[in-house]
Amino acid sequence: MAVKKKTTKKKSTPVRKASGGPKKMHGEVFYPSKEVVAQANLKNWDALAKSAAKDLQGFWAKEAKELEWFKPWKKTLDDSKKPFFKWFADGKVNIVHNCIDRHLKTSRRNKLAFIWESEDGKEHRTYSYYALNREVSRMASIIKSLGVKKGDRVTIYMGRIPEIVFAMLACAKVGAIHSVVFGGFSVDALQGRIEDSASKLVIICDGSYQNGKLIELKRIADEAIVRCPSVENVLVVRRTSHDVPFQQGRDHWYHEMLETPIAKERFPTEVMDAEDPLFILYTSGSTGKPKAILHTHGGYMVGTYSTLKYVFDIKDEDRWWCAADPGWITGHSYIVYGPLLNGATSFLYEGGPTFPNPGRWWQLIERYGITILYTAPTAIRGLMRFGEEWPNQFDLSSLRLLGTVGEPINPEAWKWYFTVIGKEKCPIMDTWWQTETGMFMITPTPVVPLKPGSGTRPFFGQEAEIVDEQGKPVKDNEEGYLVLKKPWPAMLRTIYKDPDRYVSQYWSKYPGRYMTGDSARRDEDGYFWIIGRVDDVIKVSGHRLGTAEVESALITHPAVAESAAIGLPHEIKGQAIFCFVLLKPNINGTPELAEELRQHVAKTMGAIARPEEVRFVDKLPKTRSGKIMRRVLKARAQGLPEGDLSTLEE
Ligand code: WTA
Repeated sequence: MAVKKKTTKKKSTPVRKASGGPKKMHGEVFYPSKEVVAQANLKNWDALAKSAAKDLQGFWAKEAKELEWFKPWKKTLDDSKKPFFKWFADGKVNIVHNCIDRHLKTSRRNKLAFIWESEDGKEHRTYSYYALNREVSRMASIIKSLGVKKGDRVTIYMGRIPEIVFAMLACAKVGAIHSVVFGGFSVDALQGRIEDSASKLVIICDGSYQNGKLIELKRIADEAIVRCPSVENVLVVRRTSHDVPFQQGRDHWYHEMLETPIAKERFPTEVMDAEDPLFILYTSGSTGKPKAILHTHGGYMVGTYSTLKYVFDIKDEDRWWCAADPGWITGHSYIVYGPLLNGATSFLYEGGPTFPNPGRWWQLIERYGITILYTAPTAIRGLMRFGEEWPNQFDLSSLRLLGTVGEPINPEAWKWYFTVIGKEKCPIMDTWWQTETGMFMITPTPVVPLKPGSGTRPFFGQEAEIVDEQGKPVKDNEEGYLVLKKPWPAMLRTIYKDPDRYVSQYWSKYPGRYMTGDSARRDEDGYFWIIGRVDDVIKVSGHRLGTAEVESALITHPAVAESAAIGLPHEIKGQAIFCFVLLKPNINGTPELAEELRQHVAKTMGAIARPEEVRFVDKLPKTRSGKIMRRVLKARAQGLPEGDLSTLEE
């Protein structure tokens, strides 16, 4: 067991003239230490930033050439039909070839690709690259036997077990498009996503564990699938072994299929066009249904490979732990694809940070010698509350870099992470990006001087700007809308089946520039500070949810006439969901009903969407055209000025 260790407060020497920052800087700055600069793969940030700015395509072409292509591309960037950009067009590739097949020809075949531990700590599994190929091939041959062809959509709905990774890679290997639905979502959310993608096959597990409790994924999936006529087959991975209903003909146990001659340990990797879709991932937008963000084999591959390599300085001896869920973009890019493209060893953990106690994560870091930890501010804040006694019981000296993503990190949490976890020797990579961007967009690298709460500057080849409503750049330190000025290889290509929405959502307000939906400011050193979403997207514990989805869940309850959901600041979660509900006539707004509505949202959408509070109102503030003014509700709930009310109905 772990021995109680004293925190060593040995400070390392900061390098003030590191290449990654302006000469004289403003505010509180943490410079990289000599040790960090000495081990960094990329020492000269400025030089690379300069050359990438001069020759964007040259930069990305060079990165792409570090990977293997079945046939070289003709044009690095084709912007002739912008905003429908193409990258590496006419190139032939498959991301799985670069994630797995390529490594089998080298000594990396024996290297661990994944280390996995179960939530209860009783099971451990490891997979070398060689073994990973076997597992993915077996899954690929099985899904092919179930009729999945190139271009078909496959929905994946599972807990955090190695098979979710195999399933994603198996789809990519045969050229199918995966659509992973976060295992914390429930019936309606799952149904909507299966229906929209018209998936033929759904891959699930019987159940998953969450804080010691069994989540009956198959029962949830069954409820959703009966309403989805496109689904022909369901492949069920056994995880919990509890009794589940089984529909003969439609449902197939994975472990049983593995015993048949259908399962092949070697299976060919499909040759794909660089621009062929790799996956769709549903994410919340400002209005209406979640939108399916589409990413492709070639560009996404190059973007995730290159960003992980530079930002987390990946080396062969690292043990990388991205503590996100594979069901979100962070998991897609930096649990599955980015690490494998870099030939890294990843740790995958089934559970969450505080079960059975708040020392669990720190125990795992010691147990597996994790060198880089990448997580969300909400997890840091949640763990910080239990005090340093927990991390101090474990040896965290293997750590060399830390990372954060998903929402702005408050300086207090940053400093705790830096001091208590990183012992002041691990720089924190605050990476700003989105489901749509596919890869880190505003981020430091280890040699860049840091300011707590800022993601520093755009990644190589990118330029960001803060603009006002009309699209005019604002002054330093003024708040405005964050836009991106250059295309990048891992950019979303479209919204699946809805190209018009792709154009209107991202490229119409500020022509020629990508609208992020975030507000931010840039300081006098050119550092970006993200403030938050400007649309109706709420980030609850770093998870992206839309007010519209919560409202549609509420409206399915028989007592609800109308509702409005908003996000309000929350100490641990960053933001929490508050709902205002107008009841149908003659229904009383009792505390019991409020509780019932909270549970109703959790049951239909998933526990992450459970509102913090439900308040009953007689009226909702609306514009004369009938749009709910969430801004007014937000201000009122926080006791803030309500701003311009001239468009209010009455
Ligand atoms: C927010 C997550 C501040 C932002 C990868 C963005 C952040 C949204 C950061 C995308 C960060 C992400 N600092 N805010 N480092 N990273 N965000 O699609 O509002 O789940 O627009 O992708 O998360 O959320 P998504």
